[in-house]
Amino acid sequence: MAEQTTTIVIFGASGDLTTKKLAPALADLYAKGRLAPEVQIVGVARSEMNAQEFSASFYDGFGPAAHFPPAPETWQDFSRRIHCCYGDVLAPDGLDGLERTLAAVESPDKPANRLYYLALAPSLFAPAALAMGRAGYQQENGCWRRLVVEKPFGIDLNTAMELNRVIHSVFAEHQVYRIDHYLGKETVQNLLVFRFANAIFEPLWSRNYIDNIQITVAESVSIADRAAYYDNAGVLRDMFQSHLLQLLAVVAMEPPSTFEADTLRNEKVKVLESVRRIPSQDAAACVVQGQYDGYLDEPGVPPGSRTPTYAALRLDVDNWRWQGVPFYLRSGKALTNKRTEVLIQFRRPPHLIFPQGPSGDITSNTLSICLQPNEGVHLEFQAKAPDSTLDLRPVNLEFNYEDSFGGQEIPDAYERLLLDALNGDASLFIRSDEIEQSWSIIDPLIHGLSQPPTRPPEIYDPGTEGPYAADDFLARDGRAWLGKCIGG
Ligand code: BG6
Repeated sequence: MAEQTTTIVIFGASGDLTTKKLAPALADLYAKGRLAPEVQIVGVARSEMNAQEFSASFYDGFGPAAHFPPAPETWQDFSRRIHCCYGDVLAPDGLDGLERTLAAVESPDKPANRLYYLALAPSLFAPAALAMGRAGYQQENGCWRRLVVEKPFGIDLNTAMELNRVIHSVFAEHQVYRIDHYLGKETVQNLLVFRFANAIFEPLWSRNYIDNIQITVAESVSIADRAAYYDNAGVLRDMFQSHLLQLLAVVAMEPPSTFEADTLRNEKVKVLESVRRIPSQDAAACVVQGQYDGYLDEPGVPPGSRTPTYAALRLDVDNWRWQGVPFYLRSGKALTNKRTEVLIQFRRPPHLIFPQGPSGDITSNTLSICLQPNEGVHLEFQAKAPDSTLDLRPVNLEFNYEDSFGGQEIPDAYERLLLDALNGDASLFIRSDEIEQSWSIIDPLIHGLSQPPTRPPEIYDPGTEGPYAADDFLARDGRAWLGKCIGG
């Protein structure tokens, strides 16, 4: 077979995602020698954009790991691969410019694989797939064609199913790579390694030893200028349907038989299927909602908006491994700090032979998996304080990425995901049935919470841990939030 080349086509070349994430990730991959030698990058934008402007974001993307500033010969070689053209997936001849550019940059003698990246407004995902279908862009003819679709994938179960239907009318499922950038995070992948490359945790990883699991994705940022998107989404669509449920799936899944895309995703789908659905009429009692004080003053937020910027909820996984172990999930904006952590709280010793210390109760063991920042794993257990009576204190066994890997840079999630999509490895991408399962968990909650006379979200002060009701929510189960990771 003739040697193949690869073309990366980015729809939405002038957007934030391309400038802030895709261009730096591609620059880094190029600097590390991980892109195919003959790679070409074509940006498609609806706005007027010249090649120089487009390539500037790649130049700026040469971060420290990619040796900023790039050597002149490196930049010369890389920049000649960067092209851009006008394109509009809504216009009848909207892809003509792209067609001409592809004809100019792809050699007629070497078949070119193509990765199409939809870095577009979500309302354009379906029109883009259809426009590509009309142009025959999905046809493989001896080389591969892949489509990367960003989040949000639909705004509820029906729209996600419809988007899957439209995409499948053009591309086969094996050609579709749905992004959840959390799966590209080094530490989320490490969770899989932690669970499945170590034999000591697996026997403990069940209802027999675990009391509850807490997943926290806290952010210190507000919604800033994203009201147009965020006010319609809210935290349940923006964070829970995607990132938090993916974290839950990785923590709770059964060990897959191989580290291959479909075996891995089959196990994630099984867990999501086992999550007990909360009917809409129970949503108000099962979810704590909050809104940070000042949200209504953010530019573009409609007066009186009830969009939650914080939520906490409990999910139960109805299978043998997890029966009776609550999974508490919480996420919010404008909180004390940025922190993503999975905390496993083990059961208390069944019988205590030691007197309780002055601090009162003996805490049970906790395993904290700190996903960002200060990436690491900490196991807290009890130890006897020296030179005293039997005074027990919690101490930590620690693993820190920074210390253990000599300050090695943690690559951005997009770098890993782009590389995987180029290599045809879909393990860290979401399959159509996974998306639909996640929506079927979140949809009834959103529906139930939007029904009057549901209480509006509790207002919380920015820079705090969120609404007080979230603490009461766990106290009702006789538990407390136990964040152990240090935020940034
Ligand atoms: C995005 C959400 O998917 O993830 C944003 O739309 C959120 O609202 C972001 O801020 C968080 O990602 P990270 O990588 O900064 O934790």
